[in-house]
Amino acid sequence: MALIDTHCHLDFPQFDEDRDQVLQRARDSAVEKILIPGVDLATCRRAIALAETHEDVWAAVGIHPNELMDISSDVLGQLSGLANHPKVVAIGEIGIDLYWRKKSQSDQERDFRAQLAFADASGLPVIVHDREAHEPVLRLLRELRPAGGVVLHAFSGDARMAEDALTLGFYLGVDGPLTYKKSDELRAIFAQAPLDRILIETDAPYLTPVPFRGKRNEPAHVRLVAEALAVIRGTTYEAVAAATTANAARLFRWESPVC
Ligand code: NI
Repeated sequence: MALIDTHCHLDFPQFDEDRDQVLQRARDSAVEKILIPGVDLATCRRAIALAETHEDVWAAVGIHPNELMDISSDVLGQLSGLANHPKVVAIGEIGIDLYWRKKSQSDQERDFRAQLAFADASGLPVIVHDREAHEPVLRLLRELRPAGGVVLHAFSGDARMAEDALTLGFYLGVDGPLTYKKSDELRAIFAQAPLDRILIETDAPYLTPVPFRGKRNEPAHVRLVAEALAVIRGTTYEAVAAATTANAARLFRWESPVC
């Protein structure tokens, strides 16, 4: 049963030594697509270059809130050129990060707004990064509501925020932390959320699921997230794989395979 890793930084230097083997292990684990979000202009270009040379790799373009780069009209112009590439299926990852706080909250809000407006105009869905920034992220998304749809990547809010996000029509992304001992609240949220609104991700090289926690994460491990989700929901791995693959195809507008 095929899986899609909808968030993986396969272009990062952590994969420079063995990227082909990592991709092969993903294919061996039935991962049929890998979506690489950009974090700055260089990584956006690298993600696109990988997507051009690998049929199962796709790209998203955007400037991460931890990048010390203002979203000027020049940057937006460059992003817009990149977003026209046929293998770019989303804008991201963009958002607000109040844990690292590389820029002030007001600067991050300004830049998030600018990229949300750009995403809305492009019609592409948005991959949202929210670290300890639940209130401003939800407030701006509610206000600007990009037409192409939204996934809250590596969802880390509470049950109330999940409910609000689902009411707004957003998808919730879940990663390795679902397998961590202390993640009871996260498991309760993902046991309840409608299965047709969940995307599975690795965020590799980060957020490695148990039993590989502490090591570099890789897209093959998205399978462990799917398996954990099946256990939590009392359903089968096949049901989770089929639903999350269909969800990703719907949000990122991948055609379903012709039978
Ligand atoms: Ni990420």
